[in-house]
Amino acid sequence: MVSGTSRLLEIDAYGEVEMFSAARFIQNALIEIRKIVGESRVISACSGGVDSTAATVLVHKAVGGNLVAVFIDDGLRREGEPEFVMKTLRNLDIRARLVDAKEEFFDTFKGKTDAEEKRKAFRDKFYRTLGKVSAEEKIEFIVQGTIRADVIETVKGIKSQHNVLEQIGINPEIYGYRILEPLRELFKPDVRKVARELGLPKEVSERMPFPGPALSLRVLGEVTPDKISIVREATRIVEEETKELGTFQNFAVLHNDKATGIKKGRRVYGNIITVRIVESEDAVTAKAKQVPYSILMRICERITGEIPSIVRCLYDITDKPPGTIEFE
Ligand code: XMP
Repeated sequence: MVSGTSRLLEIDAYGEVEMFSAARFIQNALIEIRKIVGESRVISACSGGVDSTAATVLVHKAVGGNLVAVFIDDGLRREGEPEFVMKTLRNLDIRARLVDAKEEFFDTFKGKTDAEEKRKAFRDKFYRTLGKVSAEEKIEFIVQGTIRADVIETVKGIKSQHNVLEQIGINPEIYGYRILEPLRELFKPDVRKVARELGLPKEVSERMPFPGPALSLRVLGEVTPDKISIVREATRIVEEETKELGTFQNFAVLHNDKATGIKKGRRVYGNIITVRIVESEDAVTAKAKQVPYSILMRICERITGEIPSIVRCLYDITDKPPGTIEFE
């Protein structure tokens, strides 16, 4: 949506190309959002990341009390995330609802092992859950934090981004509502500028990107509550040990295969974690970070020491391309 308001570069009256101005972007977006939405009610699917929170705050600024933010607790979030998101939204004076859909999401993943099949299952459950909430809230529009990289990669067929529908020929109206995507023409660095200009707290405007389908992309093979809790713990350890690196994304991935190891003096066949730490500007390309070995060793000791089922910890040195940032 809001096409024409969210240009990366703008042409001034003398035909000069100007750098992106967050203030001007916001000004134009507010006018356009008000024009599109009018007096209708709106919900915003907010995960707490910079994209969806900036989109939520922008639309809230435009339509005020006609917006309700919805955080779907799909059981796939990082430790403490549901509480963090709800607190952030309430601090911003935005009416916010937490929808507990953990069981339904885990049900939808049962028996699914293929990456694209899992993404599509997530997307379908995500939209159906939002559809239910929209019917309850009697809304007409749903706000999403889709950004330009999401659209580009989905259209190119690199992956089925969970929040990109129209671009791949799915009519969102089959889910019962219209979609508003005020940031869809921006890349990540400009989204951060908009977030800062909107006055979002630093923990949000500078927040490390985290994918919509969350930890489900970081459990290879079938997603189960047990596997999610293992990868959640490993993720916390990686994040704690890499806080100072200032890298683009730092996380853990749980493998579907097992390996032999030794725990408490006994041979065991246990789980494998890969640690991924990448530098990137906009997620379109990325470089595996040359992390000091002492940090990697500490992560490995903690992951294998604190999580009983893990016997191996690997480090991924693949750039994007040929890899992608996530494993699935
Ligand atoms: P890849 O793995 O394609 O990821 O190199 C590029 C960036 O996008 C994030 N990502 C997603 N974000 N929904 C999202 O909201 C998704 O389905 C999705 N898949 C990947 C990823 O974390 C990285 O920042």
